[in-house]
Amino acid sequence: MNDTLEEAARIIAGSKNLIAFTGSGISAESGIPTFRGKDGLWNKYNPAELATFEAFINNPKVVWEWYSWRINLVLNAKPNLAHEAIARLENAGILKVVITQNVDDLHERAGTKNLIKLHGDILIARCISCNYKERLSESPRNIPPRCPVCGGLLRPDVVWFGEPLPTKELKAATEAARKADVILVVGTSGVVYPACLIPFVVKNAGGKVIEVNISESAITEIADVFFKGPASRVLSALVSRVNELLKK
Ligand code: OAD
Repeated sequence: MNDTLEEAARIIAGSKNLIAFTGSGISAESGIPTFRGKDGLWNKYNPAELATFEAFINNPKVVWEWYSWRINLVLNAKPNLAHEAIARLENAGILKVVITQNVDDLHERAGTKNLIKLHGDILIARCISCNYKERLSESPRNIPPRCPVCGGLLRPDVVWFGEPLPTKELKAATEAARKADVILVVGTSGVVYPACLIPFVVKNAGGKVIEVNISESAITEIADVFFKGPASRVLSALVSRVNELLKK
């Protein structure tokens, strides 16, 4: 890992426009399950029954029960060393923006400021009739929760299968990727469109791709540097070395 670490640290320290792209693997060590793989959520649950608008309209109670469980997981989780390392890179002025597919708030709680959330936010409930939004500090007491303004159904403000990504966020992420000279990709299988195209936009524009994952992903084939290992360990070591290089 030492040669790889040195190479990646030098690329990052020399970058002018570094961005990061994260997936559920970065939150795995905080106890939030990923979607794919042996212990992944989509191995135990059927996304068609829990993560589509149709499923929600047919059975809002079941969908909200599942989301309440996940909301509690997020509220009880803490950012890990990987989220903290990413925030340190931003603090050092070298990382310009973090684009995440995650709906948890662990990047924010670790201190990341410039964050684009492509798949929404599990801690926001949104009215399907009047678009009223509220931030949840606990899972809803009455399920399914109702809008205090118009009485409509509230839904989790996340992107479900078959739904478009939020326009403003997708545009901002694509523009950031076009301008980036390096992208740090952490803990994503890279198979969910269109978010997974972000590293390819960077690569096609001539940028470098550094990937951290416990196993190979759909992005590994375009990675200039691939670290096989848990995000917390790899990113702590990588960011410490980048900070040393920046001080020289
Ligand atoms: P996946 O579950 O598809 O992939 C998680 C990735 O994290 C895998 O490649 C794992 O190998 C890797 N991983 C697991 N633990 C890790 C660790 N400790 N350190 C580093 N890597 C680790 O999750 P995503 O790629 O985030 O969409 O999934 C993308 C989207 O699919 C999600 O945003 C969600 C889901 O359906 C929506 O909700 C719209």
